[in-house]
Amino acid sequence: MSLSLIARTISASPTLRLNEKAAILREKGDPVIHLGGGEPKSMAPMDAIMASVNSLNTGEVRYAPADGILPLKKAIIRYTEEFYNRHVMPENVIASGGAKQAIMVAMQAILNPQDEILYPAPFWVSYPEMAKLCGAIGVPVLPEDGSFYPRISDFEQRISGQTKAIIINSPNNPTGAMYSKEFIADIVKFCEKKDLYLIMDDIYHRLVFDGKKPISCYDFTRESVDKSKLIVINGVSKQYAMTGFRIGWAVANKKIIEAMANIQGHQTSGPSVVLQKAAVGALNGIQSSVENLRVTLENNRNIMLDLLDSFDGVKVTKPDGTFYCFADFSAYEKDSNKLSNFLIDKVQVLTVPGKEFGLDGHLRLSYCGSIKDITEGIERIKWALDPNAPNELYIGDRKLTRDWL
Ligand SMILES: Cc1ncc(COP(=O)(O)O)c(C=O)c1O
Repeated sequence: MSLSLIARTISASPTLRLNEKAAILREKGDPVIHLGGGEPKSMAPMDAIMASVNSLNTGEVRYAPADGILPLKKAIIRYTEEFYNRHVMPENVIASGGAKQAIMVAMQAILNPQDEILYPAPFWVSYPEMAKLCGAIGVPVLPEDGSFYPRISDFEQRISGQTKAIIINSPNNPTGAMYSKEFIADIVKFCEKKDLYLIMDDIYHRLVFDGKKPISCYDFTRESVDKSKLIVINGVSKQYAMTGFRIGWAVANKKIIEAMANIQGHQTSGPSVVLQKAAVGALNGIQSSVENLRVTLENNRNIMLDLLDSFDGVKVTKPDGTFYCFADFSAYEKDSNKLSNFLIDKVQVLTVPGKEFGLDGHLRLSYCGSIKDITEGIERIKWALDPNAPNELYIGDRKLTRDWL
């Protein structure tokens, strides 16, 4: 079969693949613990559910403008005022099928084949593949000091005549690192000086810990939105636990938004109007669920860190936000694919290999599940790797005997 060049170069999303693997194993009756997940387990806000039900009840669910319905744009404008201290117009906003589509159409609107887009490594798995979908080249920027916090000098070293854009995700998937105000200020100025687009993937910006607050990139530019090359991405998936609703958005100058809307119009005609109304419900409704989720995640993070602390060989950088911890297991096994497969085979714990995010030797462990799953999952991993652990482990009434250490 002759598939296109693009089809042959794009790999399946490893995180989606792992979700499928967990579902298949569970169906078989295996007691799988999924520490690879990328979605909160809480309910969607009631305001979102009611808004979508009311929309469905009308029985008239039609095409809508490709760049989003006005009530959603208004809710996003209000959100932008509250969290970014910036007044924007409906022409500066597009609603998409998740933040993922918003990022994809933004890249399609700004990148030519062979253009380069830079992002800090470790990086979200979709950035390189999205760049490839544009015929462009994703360039990971690994901080030279070995930390998860890049510096401008790291970008200066990787920038070339081909560089067109930078994408920043803070707090970061997979590390949980939230970049400082100083770094955000510097990267905004750096991009303005070099005339680069800057995509801020802020999908986790309210899920931050230890008293941290979301940072607005607009605080560091003197440009008006319509002069600026800043593209701000956000959505309801993570903060409102609405991953399945598939609503995200971008805020940017109206020329970029118009180009994105043209592209999206031919791709999908925009997201479902029912789900856009759900997003309006979430954004305009009672906000307590976001804070409840944030507090739960902070507590889960602390539990996971305490458990990982008891591993002699594991190195962990305390996550500032998100629901991921990117732990260094290289003392046990340098090949993260091998380690991840080993853990699922031996103790049925699903983790995501660091290699998928551009840094081998690490595993991404999610703490968005239950405390029971976090505790039991890390205990199983410890049992599998720690030569001092007892030889036997019970998972329910199954007795496992360790014969590999
Ligand atoms: C860094 C990052 N950006 C964007 C997305 C996409 O979110 P959405 O569900 O809104 O498409 C994700 C989802 O995992 C993510 O981790």
